[in-house]
Amino acid sequence: MSIPNLVLVGFMGTGKSAVGRRIAPQLHLDFIDMDDLIESRQGRSISQIFTEQGEPAFRAIERDLAHELAPPQGRVIATGGGVVLNPENLHDFQAGGLVICLKATPEVIFQRVASNRRRPLLNTPNPFQSMVALLEQRRPFYEAIPQSIDTSSGSLSQIVSEIAGLYEVFRNSFPD
Ligand code: S3P
Repeated sequence: MSIPNLVLVGFMGTGKSAVGRRIAPQLHLDFIDMDDLIESRQGRSISQIFTEQGEPAFRAIERDLAHELAPPQGRVIATGGGVVLNPENLHDFQAGGLVICLKATPEVIFQRVASNRRRPLLNTPNPFQSMVALLEQRRPFYEAIPQSIDTSSGSLSQIVSEIAGLYEVFRNSFPD
């Protein structure tokens, strides 16, 4: 029996990792944070990968991992914010499970990403402006995901139970 994945996509700071970590044990699924896995396999930080090899190299590593993790194996996967840029990633994830896009207002996102340890794209002289510009540029990619949840307000447990409900419905109709 194949168990569908729950794949969380969305811009940086929308809560993908926090929601994923909380929801996985509730659904009795394994949790994987793609950026954590990339860092541990590469033995260097996301920022180092960007600095040493550039964004295209990071996107290639991310693409390989998305392909590896996509088949339905009952995983909750917190993706990096740019995973939606490659349509093949979405195609693979949608074949293997439920993809949910987390959204939040620019102000809330900015509060959450204040420490840019893993966000080289916001390591600029004006990170708020860079974030708003990137958010605008990415908007069509996020809007194309059929299911989305706003995490700007509401408690983590409310958001988690809403997503758990959507996942249960999806799982019941997922072919074995
Ligand atoms: C990125 C988001 C980051 C990380 C990398 C690139 C992006 O992940 O993958 O810095 O392009 O939006 P988070 O969404 O977890 O911050």
